[in-house]
Amino acid sequence: MSQPYLAHFALKEPPFSKEIPDADLWLPSSKLAAVESLLDALDEHASVVLVGEPGVGKTCVLRALRHRIPAAGFRLTYCHNATLGRRDFYRQLCHAVGISPAATAGSLFYGLSRHVEERAAERIHPVFLLDEAHLMHQDTLDHLHILLNYAWDSRALLSLVLVGLPELRERLELRRNRSLYSRIHHRLEIAALTPEDTAEYLRMRLHRVGCDREVFASDAVVLFHEATLGAMRDLDRLAAHALRETARKKRKLVERDVAARVIEADSRERDR
Ligand SMILES: Nc1ncnc2c1ncn2[C@@H]1O[C@H](COP(=O)(O)OP(=O)(O)OP(=O)(O)O)[C@@H](O)[C@H]1O
Ligand SMILES: [Mg+2]
Repeated sequence: MSQPYLAHFALKEPPFSKEIPDADLWLPSSKLAAVESLLDALDEHASVVLVGEPGVGKTCVLRALRHRIPAAGFRLTYCHNATLGRRDFYRQLCHAVGISPAATAGSLFYGLSRHVEERAAERIHPVFLLDEAHLMHQDTLDHLHILLNYAWDSRALLSLVLVGLPELRERLELRRNRSLYSRIHHRLEIAALTPEDTAEYLRMRLHRVGCDREVFASDAVVLFHEATLGAMRDLDRLAAHALRETARKKRKLVERDVAARVIEADSRERDR
C-alpha cells in the first residue's frame, strides 16, 4: 500500500477521492430531492437550471441522475467546456452527440436540430447537460432558446440542463436572457451541507472503504464544517490531510488540534 495512512486506518483505498462510482454516490435527502426533481423535469421534457456554490456536489448530482435515468428513453449529452464562442459551442455539441460538424453556423444548427428530431422519431428524449454554464458566452446564451424551438415552438423535443455557480441564475434573470429563462421552468439549487450532513458524509466515505468506526472526533467535524461552509470538495481535501497527519502522529482519532492545524495550513497555502 503506497500511502501509509491507509494501512494505519485499515482503509481499502483513499476514502476522499473524486473517483467514486456513480452507484456509490451519497444521496442525503437534499441531494436525492434534486435528483428526483431533475428526473421529473426530464420526464415532462422540460428544461432546468441547477445552481450552487463551488464543490457542493452539482456535477455529482448529474452523475447520480445518469445512474438513475431510464437508459432506453433518454440520451444524455454532457458538455463542460462552456467558454467557447457560439459557433465552436455548437461544433462541440455536434461532436458530443456524434455527428460531424458542418462548416457554417447555419448548417451546424441545422445538423443539431435534425439530430434532436431524429431522436424524437425514435422516442428517445435528448438532454444536453451544460455544466459550468455561468461561463457561457453571451452570444451562445442569446441563441440557446432557438435550439428549443421545434415545429413552430409547439413541441418539447429537447431538454437543456444548465448547471453552474449562483451567478448563472443572476445572468439568466437579466432582461437580455428572458427568452431563454422563461423557457426554463425548473429552477433548482443545491445547498451547502448542514453540520449533520458533514458528519454523515465523512462517515459514509469511510464506510465505503471498509471503516465503520468513528475516526473524526465530533469537535474536529465541527471545525471542518465551519472551515468548508459545507463544500464537499474542500472537505475531501481537509479530511484526507487530517487522516495523513493523524497517522503520522500514530493516533487513531482525528482530534480537534489536528483539524485546526490542517485547516490553518490549508488556508495559508491558499493565500500564497
Ligand atoms: N453525492 C456525492 N457523493 C459522494 N461524493 C460527492 C458527492 N457530491 C460531491 N462529492 C464530492 O465532492 C466533490 C465536489 O463535487 P462536485 O464536483 O459535484 O461539485 P460541484 O458543485 O460540481 O463543484 P464546481 O462548481 O466547482 O464544479 C466531488 O469530487 C466528490 O469528491
Ligand atoms: Mg461541477
